[in-house]
Amino acid sequence: MKNNKITTGFSRLDKDQKIDLVSSHTTDPLLFSNTLHASLHRDPVVQKLYDEFSENTLGNYYFPYGVAPNFLINGKMYMVPLVIEESSVVAAASGAAKFWAERGGFHSEVLGIEKIGQVHFTWNGGFDLLNRFFPEIRKQMFTNTERITSNMMKRGGGILTIQLVDMTDHIPDYYQVKATFDTRDSMGANFINSCLEEFADTLRDFVAGHVEFSGYSLQVIMSILSNYTPNCLVHTWVEGDIKEDGHHYDDLYTDREFVTRFQTGVRIAEVDRYRATTHNKGIYNGIDAVVLATGNDFRAVEACGHAYASRNGEYGSLSKVEISGKTFRFSLKVPMSLGTVGGLTHLHPLAKLSLQLLGNPGANELMMIASAAGLANNYSAVKSLVTKGIQKGHMKMHLLNILNVYMATDEEKKHAVEYFKHEKVSHSAVNSFLDSIRR
Ligand code: MEV
Repeated sequence: MKNNKITTGFSRLDKDQKIDLVSSHTTDPLLFSNTLHASLHRDPVVQKLYDEFSENTLGNYYFPYGVAPNFLINGKMYMVPLVIEESSVVAAASGAAKFWAERGGFHSEVLGIEKIGQVHFTWNGGFDLLNRFFPEIRKQMFTNTERITSNMMKRGGGILTIQLVDMTDHIPDYYQVKATFDTRDSMGANFINSCLEEFADTLRDFVAGHVEFSGYSLQVIMSILSNYTPNCLVHTWVEGDIKEDGHHYDDLYTDREFVTRFQTGVRIAEVDRYRATTHNKGIYNGIDAVVLATGNDFRAVEACGHAYASRNGEYGSLSKVEISGKTFRFSLKVPMSLGTVGGLTHLHPLAKLSLQLLGNPGANELMMIASAAGLANNYSAVKSLVTKGIQKGHMKMHLLNILNVYMATDEEKKHAVEYFKHEKVSHSAVNSFLDSIRR
């Protein structure tokens, strides 16, 4: 029952002791320990930085850091950094970026940057009584948060609105203070949460200090930002011509056939949640890769996008196709809360360089870049799906992973890449091929 024992004092061990202890729980302690040690950065100062991002850090977990060139967005060319472990994603982004760069590129606009936070509380004195005093409470909330908001206000941001929301239809005595924020170029989570905790204290103190509220009880349950930011929204699209007998999109299908198939492919994701989930996952292949490369919070961005995809009560596609006459338009509307200052953005060495590579964009510009990467990946995926199918290209890209599983040498890899140009890639086909050349 060794593994059921409670581990105590783990966080107080130094890194080597932690690695030894953890390794002793594995079947090959030496391999585990050597692999962790080998993953550490050779510069101890940089390693210390990584260590301190999180807790109980034992090593670094590598993901590929790649780049997709040729992203033309609103007339400006970008090389977009992408952190992703899945083969094909960078190739798909690059392919679509180049294709659309030759056709005017991506067009993008930020439709809003509003963030949201809530103080959730219970109150048994009824809405009307609290609401009567709320203008005064709100004023105090603005005043009491001044020391938190002054810097943000100098940058043009701050608290936008504070309102009292009656939620008693859902839970008896449940209310919210719901506030909106402009956090400029920061994602703003700490700023918002600090403001909210101050709002909660203000509310509690106000109620405790006014005789009109005596005999009633107010309990603050929690104060936290919402990762659902439907008004922090970016809209990105591409537009192409439809030449009736042209083959601008695909070799096999004419432009008209292609755009019709493509539109049907996207319509299916609008009406069927099984397809929609995979379709939107393809969008997040691109978005998450940029979000990760720039040190942003991909969990927040994804959670928000999926909630937005079900805003009408049914989960559906985040992207949309319109065909009008001879024009094909493929667009994506997606909320995302990103930062280009604060958080890890300038602490993580590669996140900082990613932002440099992008020309040190503000948060709005980064929203446009990330959404363009999402739309590019979505375009490539749906294009493959409605034409030649996804597996052929995907397995070609995956070939090196399979060869690595079978410990192929560089020479063997060279032969295999040549051979599989004309053959279907699968684990067993690669295995047989390696057997044949190893004999
Ligand atoms: C794979 O990571 C993503 C796709 O499944 C997306 C899609 O089906 O649209 C190819």
